[in-house]
Amino acid sequence: MVVWTDFERATIQDIFSKIDYGVVGQAALSRCLIVYPWTQRYFGSFGNLYNAAAITSNPKVAAHGKVVMEGLEKAVKNLDNIKATFAELSTLHSEKLQVDPDNFKLLGDCLTIVVAAQLGKNFTPEVHAAFQKFLAVVVSSLRRQYY
Ligand code: HEM
Repeated sequence: MVVWTDFERATIQDIFSKIDYGVVGQAALSRCLIVYPWTQRYFGSFGNLYNAAAITSNPKVAAHGKVVMEGLEKAVKNLDNIKATFAELSTLHSEKLQVDPDNFKLLGDCLTIVVAAQLGKNFTPEVHAAFQKFLAVVVSSLRRQYY
């Protein structure tokens, strides 16, 4: 069981209350698709992902980025039960989508960069640590149904 300090809880909730899911989700997913191009293989139905300009202007990427953030919001609202909250999502990524689970961390890292840029000076080392911990629990929960 993961133990959260009051600071960590408050910080994670604060970050999610401040960011625009549409903007941040689109930016993080685009970044992931550009920097780690093999991740594009899972999004064959998204149309043109030919280059960075195509990715950043692709409406399906934007819409899906928001979906990912809404998924993360469920974890924020269930900090004490992220594993159970993500059980179904983990099965989906494993069995149906067959996403290599190493990619979860890569998307998480892209998200960290985008959030850091949005928060500016408020992204202190302590805030970073709390956010990293949150993402680590998310990633391990998403990996859980893989075998
Ligand atoms: C679908 C969340 C990482 C590939 C989804 C959905 C959510 C989600 C909420 C929609 C599920 C549904 O329709 O019921 C997340 C979260 C991630 C993550 C929170 C990690 C932070 C990834 C990664 C990849 C990926 C790294 C691939 C590189 C997909 C694909 C779909 C999907 C292909 C289906 C898209 C579609 O056809 O609409 N994800 N995901 N996900 N995810 Fe993830």
